[in-house]
Amino acid sequence: MTQFKDQTLLVTGASGHFGRIAVEELLARGASKIVAGTRDPSKLADLAAKGVDVRKLDFDDSATLTSAFAGVDRVLMVSTDAIGRRLAQQTAAIAAAKTAGAKHIVYTSAPAARPNLDAGLGPEHFWTEVAIAQSGLGFTILRDHMYAENNLMDGAHVIASGQLFGLIGDRGTAYVARADAARTAAGALLSADGQSIEDVTGPAAVTNVERAALYAELSGKPVVSIALTPADLKAGMLAAGLPEGVVSMLLAFQIDAVLGYHGVVSDAVERFSGRKPQTLAEVLTANRAALNA
Ligand SMILES: NC(=O)c1ccc[n+]([C@@H]2O[C@H](COP(=O)([O-])OP(=O)(O)OC[C@H]3O[C@@H](n4cnc5c(N)ncnc54)[C@H](OP(=O)(O)O)[C@@H]3O)[C@@H](O)[C@H]2O)c1
Repeated sequence: MTQFKDQTLLVTGASGHFGRIAVEELLARGASKIVAGTRDPSKLADLAAKGVDVRKLDFDDSATLTSAFAGVDRVLMVSTDAIGRRLAQQTAAIAAAKTAGAKHIVYTSAPAARPNLDAGLGPEHFWTEVAIAQSGLGFTILRDHMYAENNLMDGAHVIASGQLFGLIGDRGTAYVARADAARTAAGALLSADGQSIEDVTGPAAVTNVERAALYAELSGKPVVSIALTPADLKAGMLAAGLPEGVVSMLLAFQIDAVLGYHGVVSDAVERFSGRKPQTLAEVLTANRAALNA
């Protein structure tokens, strides 16, 4: 399954959590010409020592786009964290990849990416997908579902308060471990051909009730799931001091879980990475100390 192993493979954002794992996976799977693009090459000295060609790459800096994409056959474009600006960034990177002669782009998108303005982060991902399709290049759009690790951001607080707030009608979220998603992306860079869109998910949809039970089990403390209307959940998050933009994004995620978009389960992780996806319980158990801190 590694027919592109000897081509020149570029990973953008290679110093991020996701990008670094993807580069390490390419090394582990025997890729011979790996280019790691990052805004700060000094962070990747260890990868350079392993033979990775580390290049400065900043989607906001067109000179680096030209130099970083030179001679590259296939690109893993990791979506940036510059919410609100990343469509322009990523469109520039797609154009640079095409100009450089790259043949295939793998992109980290989001579940049910769509243009609706109330769809949270969906529009930026959707329009990036459109730009990739319009480039005429081969592509593998990886719609990475919610990282299991997202739960570590508020898990300790949920356990301490004993309350997990969500929406009435939640149908569950197929949380995927970030490392599984990154290894899947590396696998797609090594083997995917043609033009396709894949959901990248964990092994099962986990409801808020089940997540609360997991927290209770891992902490030994009672944790209950409290299901609210969208208006009440929004008011609660605002009252807790979360910024308006963050509240809109989190609410959109929760609404998508009610609509069923986050409950989709696929076999993409196993197909591209060769490993079974970790369960949410496994990821949370591995981080039990942080959750109980
Ligand atoms: N599915 C989910 O639940 C979920 C959750 C969080 C994030 N995400 C998305 O997944 C991506 C990777 O996640 P992560 O955990 O690895 O995030 P992270 O560690 O915060 O990394 C942020 C990434 O954005 C890149 N970046 C920022 N500005 C850039 C620019 N101007 N040009 C090129 N690259 C730029 C960084 O690259 P360098 O620093 O190496 O330049 C880095 O790869 C995030 O950026 C975000 O789009 C998904």
